[in-house]
Amino acid sequence: MMKITHPIHGSYRLVGGDFANAGRASSELKSLLLSLGVSRSGAERAAVAAFEAEMNVIIHAAAGMLEYEINVGEINILANDMGPGIENIELAMQEGYSTAPDWVRDMGWGAGMGLSNMKKCSDRMRIDTVVGEGTTVEMKIYL
Ligand SMILES: Nc1ncnc2c1ncn2[C@@H]1O[C@H](COP(=O)(O)OP(=O)(O)OP(=O)(O)O)[C@@H](O)[C@H]1O
Ligand SMILES: [Mg+2]
Repeated sequence: MMKITHPIHGSYRLVGGDFANAGRASSELKSLLLSLGVSRSGAERAAVAAFEAEMNVIIHAAAGMLEYEINVGEINILANDMGPGIENIELAMQEGYSTAPDWVRDMGWGAGMGLSNMKKCSDRMRIDTVVGEGTTVEMKIYL
């Protein structure tokens, strides 16, 4: 049972290309959820969804934010960035599709699995994007 009596918010600033801090936001979120008594599987789904959203900002955008709100039984995660936007969401959602450059692939990222992984981990997911401006991804996960 979750040990909260009011919503818990958090937010992280994300910087494009900042691989040194990649995964920090999502791993802190996972620890927080576990400390609140969320099941391991719920905390893991939220952490993976947040991690992929965080990585997409770091890999594809100039800068952005990862925000979350935890309520009893659910978490909402919002990733918002200033970046190139997504031209074709349906294509981007396909497993294996990636526009990541070679130097990113050489670091082990860019398999084209992030968005589909986010979809699998979340109970609801919405992408809003404007080419040349940026992308917002909202996910709801029942814990
Ligand atoms: N925030 C974003 N801004 C701009 N383009 C994005 C963003 N997120 C995803 N995309 C586009 O959608 C494609 C697929 O994203 P996805 O997360 O599935 O794979 P990836 O990031 O390329 O690789 P992986 O997530 O496996 O490391 C990306 O290659 C990119 O073209
Ligand atoms: Mg990705």
